Parts: sequence; structure tokens; C-alpha cells
Amino acid sequence: MSGNQAVAARVQAVLTPNYRQQPVALVRGEGVRVWDADGREYLDFLGGVAVNLLGHCHPSLVKALEQQARTVWHVSNHYFIPGQAALAEALLAETPWARRAFFCNSGCEANEAMLKLARKFHSDQGHPERHEIVSCTDSFHGRTLFTVTVGGQEKYQHGFEPLVPGVRHIPFGDVKALEAAITDRTAAFVVEPIMGESGVVVPPPGYLQAARELTRRRGALLCLDEIQTGVGRTGTFWAHQAEGIEPDVISSAKGLGGGFPIGAILASEAVGQHLSAGSHGTTFGGNPLACAVALAVLAELKGGVLAASRPVAARLRAGLLAAGARVASVRGQGLLLGVVLRGGGAADVMREARDRGLLVNAIGDDVLRLAPPLTLTPAEADLAVARLSAALAAAPAKA
Ligand SMILES: Cc1ncc(COP(=O)(O)O)c(C=O)c1O
Repeated sequence: MSGNQAVAARVQAVLTPNYRQQPVALVRGEGVRVWDADGREYLDFLGGVAVNLLGHCHPSLVKALEQQARTVWHVSNHYFIPGQAALAEALLAETPWARRAFFCNSGCEANEAMLKLARKFHSDQGHPERHEIVSCTDSFHGRTLFTVTVGGQEKYQHGFEPLVPGVRHIPFGDVKALEAAITDRTAAFVVEPIMGESGVVVPPPGYLQAARELTRRRGALLCLDEIQTGVGRTGTFWAHQAEGIEPDVISSAKGLGGGFPIGAILASEAVGQHLSAGSHGTTFGGNPLACAVALAVLAELKGGVLAASRPVAARLRAGLLAAGARVASVRGQGLLLGVVLRGGGAADVMREARDRGLLVNAIGDDVLRLAPPLTLTPAEADLAVARLSAALAAAPAKA
């Protein structure tokens, strides 16, 4: 039995079977590279699902974590935590319209807080009837009951009914549908600037501006789920900044901790103050370890990593477009890319790529998602393209 098989057997014997893991146990990482339990090396272009923003074991993050681990680990939100102030200051400095931050531990928790805040904002103003959440069909916002309801994907809801009431779904990118859906009962429109889990789907130009305009005019909040798109992933600090809009609340997680679990919401002053004393909370949220690592992530981004990632992202995109006749298009922004395949077979390409030392993620039958670290070098981008090109050649089109 190989090292990978031995780990798989142990995991499958004792864990709930809710994941469909690939037959690989990743045991070590450095930069964009990871190694499995049999010593095989891979370029990690899934990055813990768009999490490892600076690659694996980045020296600054390791240092921040070690230093904090020798200072204090956890105290709870019964006390003030200096790292929370520093992290909130750093995040708000990148987000001029926002004035308030709330920290938690994951993406779904951040969205849960954002959704609860949207309802509470209107309820506090004497409009509890204004509780409806409008969101997009096939979006992804997490797996708690509220966020899985808002995500609007039946396959993730099945068996967990009854779902949370008061949620309506409309097609992504459809301004007319949005116009029809937002009423005087709408608390918020919740949307991803680019739908990540659904295949890196980019909305038509002007969609987010129209959503901002409409929600403002009708008194509803615009809540952006920047969990996958934020913290430099798409080439700007937040994806919405490329659209020139100011939402009311955003959620963040994934890349924010560079691999250490942390989530956050950022809100305007008018909205953020409604997460009032006692109204919401978490034991671990904004834990000193998480804050220290996230602060180090932001320092690296500001120190030049974000700027340096842009030309590498452009090079990767161009390389992918030229990777073979199977590539129909490349969509996405920055280093959140979806390679759309002509002739489907994404799962086969993913397998062939893995066999050639490249980890990517198949979404549906015809999209491969790539989310490499922002520290990617041109040589690593070229190597990944070469491996993908070979994988495409080895996995012929289905149709
Ligand atoms: C856009 C978006 N929102 C929310 C989530 C949920 O985050 P988590 O898995 O950390 O709960 C994800 C995770 O994939 C996501 O991509």
C-alpha cells in the first residue's frame, strides 16, 4: 500500500464521508509546491481552494505565527485584542467606504454575520418586514443553513429542509431580474463579484454598478461576498474596486489568513453599528493567532506582492489561452481563472494534470479553476501551462 493509500484508508475508516477527496494526501508545502505522502511533487494551482494567497509556509507568515504562538493564543472576545484593532485598521485602510470590521473563523460564518446584519439593520429601524434576501441561482455562500439557502443550489440543500424563509433567487448578471426582485421587503442583495465555485463566472460589464444603483434607490443593502475574490486574488485589493462601486457590507475569508482560518465582514458606519452589543458573536473570531497571520498577509501584499502578481497573472492567462485547441476561453480576473474547455471532460483533464504534477480543480464538465498564489513566478506560470497543455493532449475531448 502506498503512503497516499494508507492515509486514504485511515481517513475513510473514521471520518464522515461528506468529501470526495482525490487519491492524494498532501503532507508538505513550500511556495507553490506541495508534496504527497509518496514524495511526489506538484504545482499547487488550487491553493487550498483559493486560500493560500502567498503559497505554502511563507516565511513572513511562519514568523508571525511563531511569534504570536509564544505570546498569547486565545483569550476570547470577553477582552480587547490588540491584533484585531491592527488588522481592522489595515483592512479598513484598503476599503475607504467601510468603517467597521467583525472577525470570525470562516467564509460561511462571515456570510452568516453579513446576512444577519442586513436583517437587523432594517429591523432596528422599525422595518422587520424588510427581511428578504435576494441572491443568485447557482451562487455559493457556504454550508450553514442560512448560507446554503442563499446559495440557491439544490444539490447542497437537499435533505436539509426546511430552509431559511425569506430568500429569493434570480439569475446572475440579469439586471432586469434584479430590478423585478428588489422590493420594499428586500433587506439586501447578496452577490459574488465573480462566481467562484460555479465556474469563475464573470458578470456582464456594468452589472455591479446597476446593482449598487438599484439597491440604493430602493433602500436595500448591497452585500458583496468577496470571500473568494478579495484580498488581491483578482488583481485589486477587493474585486468591487475594479468596478468603482461602494457596497454596504462585504465578507472576506479564504486568502485573508493565507491558510490560517479567519473570516471577516467590513461594513459602512451606518450599517456596521447595528451589530450591537450582544447581538452576535463567536468564541474564536479574531483570535490573536489568526489576526497576526492575516496582518502579515496584508503587509506582504502591500509590500509589493499584489503589484508583482499582475504581470504574472497576465502571462498565465495568455499562456492558458494558447495551451491547446481544447481551450475555448479563459475567464476570471487576476489569479482567479477559469479555463473553459471545448468538448468537456474537465475531470479527466484534472486527473491527467495531477499525474503530470499540476493540481487544478474541475468544475462541472467544462471548467478548470486555477487559483495559484500571488507569489507565483513567471517560470512557475510557464511550467504550469506546459503541464496543463500536456494534460489536455492526453485527455481528448468527449464530444
Ligand atoms: C464566494 C464564497 N462564499 C462563501 C464560501 C464559504 O466559505 P467557507 O468554506 O470558509 O465557509 C466560499 C467557499 O468556497 C466561497 O467561495
